[in-house]
Amino acid sequence: MQLFRHIQPLRNLISEAKAEGKRIGFVPTMGNLHKGHLALVELAKSRCDIVVASIFVNPLQFGLNEDWDKYPRTFDADSQKLESVGCDYLFFPDEREIYPNGMAEQTRVVVPGMTDLLCGASRPIHFEGVTTVVSKLFNIVQPHEAVFGLKDFQQIAVIRRMVEDLCMPVEIVPGDIVREDDGLAMSSRNIYITEAERPRAKQLQLTLRWLREQVKDGRRDYLSLEKEGQAQIEAAGFRIDYLQICCSDTLIRAGIDDKQLTILGAMYTEAARLIDNVSLTI
Ligand code: PAF
Repeated sequence: MQLFRHIQPLRNLISEAKAEGKRIGFVPTMGNLHKGHLALVELAKSRCDIVVASIFVNPLQFGLNEDWDKYPRTFDADSQKLESVGCDYLFFPDEREIYPNGMAEQTRVVVPGMTDLLCGASRPIHFEGVTTVVSKLFNIVQPHEAVFGLKDFQQIAVIRRMVEDLCMPVEIVPGDIVREDDGLAMSSRNIYITEAERPRAKQLQLTLRWLREQVKDGRRDYLSLEKEGQAQIEAAGFRIDYLQICCSDTLIRAGIDDKQLTILGAMYTEAARLIDNVSLTI
């Protein structure tokens, strides 16, 4: 695996590979990699000739009271893991490489509407930071396709919309959620879950699955179902951010005619905010 700290040498190699007809896959990350990220690299590897991963803890997508400063930086372990799954190029820029004119002066990419919902409601600047850095990374790497984990379901929906609206020639490929044995979705932020909370942290997934079964069994009173789900999560000792049965395409609360549904939830533990989702067709 070759490491790149700067844009130009990475671009040169990628253009050469493209000139040889190679398909380029891209997996953007913020590091602190777990099996979920590695599965995304493996997926890209199975579909492309060259896989590029990036590690950049993007300050633009963290709110003032969020965990940018304590987000774990684990470069050595990350690069070993990426190498072990056959990643070809690792782009590991510093902040000046990505924001040479400073963050305040940075041109922004905004996807309106969808970014105000769900995670966007409690993390107001988050998606603007994500779409801005992802569009920069797409311009740097110029991949044929980019793989994103379905745990961040809303992030994929927002990025798909950005790619469509801005005519970006990148295919967005979703990668399945990878879970711990008890069902907890793998996340870089799971390290913030305390030992005492850990056995109960699967509750979000349990409730999402319970909601899916209720809908499969014919219930369509989505608002009351959401309330019952929230009560389960609160009874397990967690604070709810949101729990909502949504239309998978628009992420608006589902109506009874919607057929493709995604049930999304976010809850707070003592020191973490965990998100998860399940989808179903009715
Ligand atoms: O999902 C993430 O890790 C980040 O939001 C991403 C896509 C790498 C952008 O910083």
